[in-house]
Amino acid sequence: MVRHFLTLLDLRPGEPERLLERAAELKRMHRAGTPHAPLRQRTLAMLFEKSSTRTRVSFEAGMTQLGGHALFLSPRDTQLGRGEPVEDSARVLSRMVDAIMIRTFAHATVERFAAYSQVPVINGLTDRFHPCQLLADMQTYRECRGSIRGCRVAFIGDGNNMCNSYINAARVFDFSLAIACPEGFEPDAATITAASDRCTVVRDPQMAAADADLVVTDVWASMGQESEQAARRAVFGGFKVDAAVMARARPKALFMHCLPAHRGEEVSAEVIDGPQSVVWEEAENRLHAQKALLELLLLGALDDRTGSAPE
Ligand code: CP
Ligand code: NVA
Repeated sequence: MVRHFLTLLDLRPGEPERLLERAAELKRMHRAGTPHAPLRQRTLAMLFEKSSTRTRVSFEAGMTQLGGHALFLSPRDTQLGRGEPVEDSARVLSRMVDAIMIRTFAHATVERFAAYSQVPVINGLTDRFHPCQLLADMQTYRECRGSIRGCRVAFIGDGNNMCNSYINAARVFDFSLAIACPEGFEPDAATITAASDRCTVVRDPQMAAADADLVVTDVWASMGQESEQAARRAVFGGFKVDAAVMARARPKALFMHCLPAHRGEEVSAEVIDGPQSVVWEEAENRLHAQKALLELLLLGALDDRTGSAPE
């Protein structure tokens, strides 16, 4: 059965930790200049229905480093943009490439795509989830502070795709999560219900940040919500991560943001550019974590050093 990565819950027991270990190893190898090209002759198709800097560049550079090739496709210049059904595009593309990464609006679109694809489908962000970002965030916490198991994480802001993915991460990586969001901007109900033993929703950012080991935020208006920007700015005014919020967290707490960020809105410049912020490491780790993910999905292993694909 072909494996997909649509949410963190697609990882099997034991894999999340091994994937992070492998990502760290790939990072060391990359830094040392060790050649490692197990994906020779393999192609990743990348379908972007929304903008991207990090996701596009990290997957493309990652495929190059692993010896393969990445293909950027947008609705503007494919038949998908002219109404070719997702189901047909999935069947055609998956006969030609070895994996498909999709960034789109409805999460159901990646699910439909995956249902008809013969090759692994990777969620590069939907309105509901952004699991690749969480791999990088978890790798970053691990390299800065060690295991996140049993730690306290605060997510402050919109109950969006990042927030939903943090809820899944709380289950998969075993930490507790306090979410501070305005009323009416809560995360996905089913996602939070499934994690109710380790997630709480509060209205006060300082309360959520109390004793946190990691404080996370994201934009107030996500891609596709541009018309709501002004209204959201008014509602989210009290949900900025600033020095007062960070002061409630543990002294060694880290700050993360998936980027792009709006200084002065969801985070103050003082925090994102300050000593607790690890946003640049976090962005870089998209590259290494996704290379580990590509190895897992395409080679069926997290420790493949030889480049030999399974028979
Ligand atoms: N964090 C993230 O996914 O960034 P991009 O939108 O630039 O890909
Ligand atoms: N929540 C943001 C994340 C961007 C990487 C968005 O969906 O636009």
